[in-house]
Amino acid sequence: MKGFFAALTRHPVSLAGTVLTTSAAVLFIALFALELAGMHGGPYVGIIAYLILPGIFVLGLLLIPLGARLERRRRAAGATESAFPVVDLNRAETRNRVILVFALSLVNVLLLAVAMYKGMEVMDSTAFCGQACHSVMSPEFAAYQRGAHASVACVDCHIGPGAGWFVKSKLSGAWQVVSVNLDLYPRPIPTPVHNLRPARDTCEQCHWPQKFVGDRLKVITSYADDEEVSEMKTVLLLRVGGIQGRTSHGIHWHVDPENEIRFRADESRETVYEIEMRGEDGEAVRFFAPGAAEGELAAAGTWRTMDCVDCHNRPSHTFHSAEDEVDRELLSGRIARDLPFVRREGVRLARADYPSHEAAREAILAGLRGFYAEQFPELAATRAEAIAEAAAAIWDGYRANVHPTMNVTWGTYPNHIGHEDTPGCFRCHDDLHATADGGRVVSQDCETCHSLLAMEEEDPEILRVLKP
Ligand code: HEC
Ligand code: HEC
Ligand code: HEC
Ligand code: HEC
Ligand code: HEC
Repeated sequence: MKGFFAALTRHPVSLAGTVLTTSAAVLFIALFALELAGMHGGPYVGIIAYLILPGIFVLGLLLIPLGARLERRRRAAGATESAFPVVDLNRAETRNRVILVFALSLVNVLLLAVAMYKGMEVMDSTAFCGQACHSVMSPEFAAYQRGAHASVACVDCHIGPGAGWFVKSKLSGAWQVVSVNLDLYPRPIPTPVHNLRPARDTCEQCHWPQKFVGDRLKVITSYADDEEVSEMKTVLLLRVGGIQGRTSHGIHWHVDPENEIRFRADESRETVYEIEMRGEDGEAVRFFAPGAAEGELAAAGTWRTMDCVDCHNRPSHTFHSAEDEVDRELLSGRIARDLPFVRREGVRLARADYPSHEAAREAILAGLRGFYAEQFPELAATRAEAIAEAAAAIWDGYRANVHPTMNVTWGTYPNHIGHEDTPGCFRCHDDLHATADGGRVVSQDCETCHSLLAMEEEDPEILRVLKP
């Protein structure tokens, strides 16, 4: 035992290794025990316990033999002892020592296995993705928490099942850790994600493209900038469609496995140069943007097969416009509609530039108070509370979408569903993408995608029919 201890400590490098390994192991066991006892320290403790400590542990293990080797070399130079020890298992002392080394190694390997397993769990958790590198992912995390997928883990869409993508993501993750620590990452994080896993391996774990959705009624409430803050309704019957029987129609026709739509676009996928459509019969039909059939633009961009994400590019972390945020809070009642011009002022204040979320909070409150104090002094006194609540609601909409530290502001991340704030569907459906002979275009006919039952009407007929 004494000899074994000496071997671990004889050379300074071995000694350092032993100290590192032992302290990492003790710390790890302590943190693990704390967690078993029900104490959860959050993502940072997870990173230390399951990523950093195991790293130190392995480093220590590597240093021990390195030190032993250096020690041997040192002795070999002095030539007082032979360079390699003679391992004689006939001697009880040597035998015990070898058994001890094996036993300790086994314990070490077990510890490492548990640590790695827990490490994977930590790395797969939403907290790790969304908060550990908080300022980097805060725009996505803030938006994610308000969306339909708030209880779907980041990794379900970003990695999906299977070992291949797991390894791939860990390799790119290793680079991300480096780039975050050295502050090399771009702000904002660029979109689209070019190496995102195909949707059929991720979205289709939970959603079936074969499912027929049919027509979907959508009522959109918005408000005018006038003094009365007039309420308006837009009513759409969206032809979401899908596969029904043997054929598919409507919007989800694009993802019928019988059809393949490929498109050639620039890096941002906002400018589509060419579309190739292949149906059940295998015949390809090609549509070109004006001037993209020949010359320089004929070779521009890269090809991609269309999937869910080309329309639903913001299924989670959806960013909205300032108008939509204010309208939403007017509808919910947090912004009182009897405050004159509150929609116009709310949008103006939400869209202004602020250096930080904190600064925005104060400025929005001061701005709204100031407006009423000047224009409607009586209201400013009697409705002070409603004004403060409205300012808080406007600020909530602001900070869910604008992240000064990441250079993310209104409109940084376009949403391709629809065509309101960004081209969206109209990237292809613009009546301009045409076959080479000009005989057929990708249609912009409003009725292709929806029936517009009412557009920004105060009291649409159709809603009276639906809600007698
Ligand atoms: C329902 C699926 C889904 C979930 C859940 C999800 N994402 Fe995403 N995410 C996407 C898609 C799709 C894109 C790619 C958009 C594109 O390429 O146009 C994306 C893009 C991103 C980007 C690149 C920048 C951007 O906004 O386009 C980041 C960063 C990101 N996600 C982080 C996260 C984090 C962190 C979580 C968990 C808190 C998360 N995502 C959860 C689907 C998802
Ligand atoms: C782990 C399961 C899971 C995965 C993976 C997943 N979803 Fe969902 N998705 C859900 C659930 C559950 C809902 C229903 C939420 C609700 O009804 O509020 C939903 C709702 C939706 C909706 C309708 C909600 C809305 O915003 O109106 C869309 C669109 C959608 N998902 C698209 C996608 C896309 C695109 C992907 C892949 C990038 C994806 N989903 C990946 C589980 C998942
Ligand atoms: C061509 C564009 C497009 C593609 C491609 C597309 N979707 Fe959609 N999807 C839409 C639109 C538009 C809606 C209706 C949106 C709304 O209600 O605001 C919709 C609605 C949905 C909904 C909600 C349906 C409901 O019951 O309300 C889900 C879930 C969904 N899509 C999942 C998917 C999945 C999964 C894929 C890939 C297999 C996909 N979509 C591909 C455009 C598309
Ligand atoms: C990458 C290009 C592209 C984008 C983006 C795109 N489409 Fe299409 N879409 C096509 C092509 C090509 C056709 C087939 C045109 C034809 O048959 O002449 C089509 C056809 C359709 C059809 C008719 C399907 C049928 O029943 O035959 C609908 C509905 C439709 N698209 C809706 C949408 C909606 C909604 C969006 C946005 C959410 C969208 N598309 C985005 C390329 C695109
Ligand atoms: C290629 C498909 C497509 C075509 C063509 C199309 N739309 Fe749309 N439109 C959509 C989709 C999808 C949405 C729903 C977006 C959403 O879910 O929020 C939408 C939403 C709208 C809205 C509501 C916007 C809002 O959020 O207030 C209006 C208004 C509208 N469309 C008008 C038109 C008119 C007018 C035309 C004809 C010039 C037209 N659209 C052509 C797909 C289309």
